[in-house]
Amino acid sequence: MNIIYKIISNFINNKSLYIGEKVTMSEHMIQTAMNAEKAKSSASLVCACLLHDYGHYILEDPDKLVKKKLNGKHEDIGYEYLKKFFKKDVVTPIKYHVLAKRYLARNKKYYNLLSKASKISLKLQGGILSNKESKDFEKQTFFENTIKLRKFDEAAKKTNIKMKCIIDYKKLLISQLL
Ligand SMILES: [Fe+2]
Repeated sequence: MNIIYKIISNFINNKSLYIGEKVTMSEHMIQTAMNAEKAKSSASLVCACLLHDYGHYILEDPDKLVKKKLNGKHEDIGYEYLKKFFKKDVVTPIKYHVLAKRYLARNKKYYNLLSKASKISLKLQGGILSNKESKDFEKQTFFENTIKLRKFDEAAKKTNIKMKCIIDYKKLLISQLL
């Protein structure tokens, strides 16, 4: 099956809730892309936002993983799969969006605002970054977009907003293929 149709069908058929939240995984990713659009982000960043948790579609039930205290590494799984089809500017922020969370969590206020599920997964993902790790991350070319993705991601758990649908993003997805 063509990758675009496969993505669309995964978005439409997946009804599992986003870990510890009231929105589905598909709604969560679409809201992340909507946030990026609102902030007038580039097409590649909107596309990265739309697909950032795609690894969860490939992995086993993410709720089960958190309960079993396992880190599914959904960012790597999503990255390895999507890089075969999408531009580097799309897939790199996906690979590092968990690192961005570990970076941002150094700020106490940010950490306290994380949901319970997110705090548990932070631990499983390696915890808060050290000063050295943070400095290295800041030097990367993808640093800024990765932090942006993470912030759009966190604000994408609303239940009472008018949602776009995955079909609305078909053209954008096609425009970001290799
Ligand atoms: Fe997310």
